[in-house]
Formats: sequence, structure tokens, C-alpha cells
Amino acid sequence: MDCELDRGAFFLMLSRRSQRGSRERKIMIVTTKQLFQHAYGKYAIGAYNINNLEQTMGLFQGNVDSKAPFIIQLSKGARSYTNKKMLEAMTKTADEIFPDAIFAVHLDHGDEATCMDCINSGFYSSVMIDASAEPLQKNIEITKRVVDAAHAKGLVVEAELGKLGGVEEHVSVSEADAHLTDPAEAAIFVKESGCDSLACAIGTSHGAFKFSGSQGLHFDVLAEIQKRLPGFPLVMHGSSSVPQEEVARINAAGGQLGGAKGVNADEFKKAATLGVTKINIDTDGRLVWCRVHRESFRDDPKNFDLRPPGKVFMKEYAKFIAAKNVKLGSAGQIDAVRAFIAKK
Ligand code: G3H
Ligand code: 13P
Ligand code: ZN
Repeated sequence: MDCELDRGAFFLMLSRRSQRGSRERKIMIVTTKQLFQHAYGKYAIGAYNINNLEQTMGLFQGNVDSKAPFIIQLSKGARSYTNKKMLEAMTKTADEIFPDAIFAVHLDHGDEATCMDCINSGFYSSVMIDASAEPLQKNIEITKRVVDAAHAKGLVVEAELGKLGGVEEHVSVSEADAHLTDPAEAAIFVKESGCDSLACAIGTSHGAFKFSGSQGLHFDVLAEIQKRLPGFPLVMHGSSSVPQEEVARINAAGGQLGGAKGVNADEFKKAATLGVTKINIDTDGRLVWCRVHRESFRDDPKNFDLRPPGKVFMKEYAKFIAAKNVKLGSAGQIDAVRAFIAKK
């Protein structure tokens, strides 16, 4: 198993002939494991969801501009929005357009069947099996089956324990139903399931309406988990900041997002020192999209061309990503990551 993982620890070796000449070029899709090894305890890697071309272009531009390694997340919803092959083609083409980018490709919130499909596709670096709605033993069983299949092909697996609030894949978890990860259970879960990273519920939730009370991140729970799982990469979902100025601009342009609230991005670096190695951000990108398009149609009501707002969105999204990477501590790490991978 380890040998398989080591094999996967090189670039995915998707070398191929450059279409413009005969020069061999390696696609810089790397394994999620490599990114985690370099980041652990120092900074967190931004894991950003994409659905379309404009997000893909903005994402790559922002990460290259800020010299940050990153993780592209593809959800089940994104895979069926157009076609899963479209996401693959866009990612590979973006890799050609941005040869300096270093990134991994990850399935976000997969069920068992989708995980198996991604594992067998040869395109993904890692998958997330989310069986967190199941009781502990069933979660372990499902996760272990995915881990066995993934490790056999050199992929790593993120699993989830605990229940985040909010909405994902059309499943809504009420605040009353959400519960934090139990640190003792986390240690048992990791040992028995064999997963490579763990998404923990530490107070965040998916979507634009987090912390309806005065809650924040539960660093005490995180510290307990890290104590029981030293060196083991932890993942923080539901980590959008929902910037208030963004919400205000959306509402001023006709939106109705009263009460939207997110995570304080100034807490990311502290979370990283406690073992959080991957931080998931999707909602914030949707807010940028919403603000740009609402303002564009408000300010230019005669326009019916999709490209003017699309162009502004790509630029604004790239700016957003670059600024977020500074908060994560991943900005400026790309050369060190490249050297780290080359040495392995
Ligand atoms: O956690 C869920 C992500 O934000 C993906 O959202 O399932 O609507 O693509 P989605
Ligand atoms: P947000 O809704 O806070 O962006 O979280 C995204 C996420 O956790 C994706 O898995
Ligand atoms: Zn999530």
C-alpha cells in the first residue's frame, strides 16, 4: 500500500506531448498527500470549488498571481452541472494555459459510488467520502472500502466525522442536528478506517449563513483532536468568510442576503498550527459572482452580452483567491512546494 502511495507521491506523471511541439511537459497535477506533507503545521491549502469556465480561469490566475499551491474541488453537483468530462477538460486546459500552477484535483463530499468513479477515472488526486450522516461503525465500513480502492491506485482519501450545519448537495442539516467532532472518536475512526485526512466539525457550517449565535471556531476541540492525531492532516469545511462588504453590495444591487455571516479568515493561521491543512471555500466565490453580475446588470441595463460581466468576474475572482491565500499562509509557497516535490 505504501509503495502505491509513494508511486502516487510523484507528479501523477501525466506527461504527454505538447500540442504545440514535441517537447514533453508534465501536467502539474500533484497528489494531495504531497501538498499536505509540505503544509502541515505551517499553513493551510485553499480548496476551492469550481463549476464553470470563468471560475476555472479566475482560480488559476489568482493562485499563480499569489504563487500558491491549491486544491481544485469538484462536487457531485458540479460534476452533473454540465458534464464531469467538461470539468476534466477545463482543468487540463487551464493547466496548459497556466504552466506555473501547482494543484491537486479532489472530489468534494462524495458518496461511495462517486468516489469509485473518480478513483477509476485516473484524473483525481484524492476523494472525499462523506458518510458522516451514518452511525460511527457504518461510516468506518464505507470509508474503509473507499480507502482500500483509492490506495490501490495511489489516491488519498478524506473522510468526515461529526456533522456540520448548513446545506450541501441539497441536504440541509439544522443547527440543532449539527454536532462537533468527538476527539476520542476521531482517533478510533482514523485508525479503523485508514483515511488519510479528516474533515472535522469544529463550529463552521456550509453556505452563507453561519454562526447565527455568537459562535466561532472551537479551537479547544481542534487542539484535542490534534493531540490524539499528531501530524495527521485535518480539514475545515464551511470556511467561507462571507465578507460583509460583499453582502452589502449584493443587497444594494437587489439581492436579499440579510443576516449572512461567515468565518473570520484571520483565524486560519491559528487553525493551521493545530493541524488544519486544507480549508474549503466555495460560498465566497459564489458571492463574488453574484455581486459582479447584479452590479453589472444594474449599472448597464441595456447590456445583454455575457462577456462583460464574465470578464469582470474572472478578474475579481482571481483577486479574491490571491487575497484568501494570504490569509491561509499558502501565498508565496509555490517555489518551496516545487523544490519539495522535486526532492522526493
Ligand atoms: O460543501 C459543498 C460545496 O459548497 C459544494 O456545493 O454541492 O452545491 O456544488 P455544491
Ligand atoms: P463554504 O460554504 O463555507 O464555502 O464551504 C465550502 C465547503 O465546505 C466545500 O466542501
Ligand atoms: Zn464541505
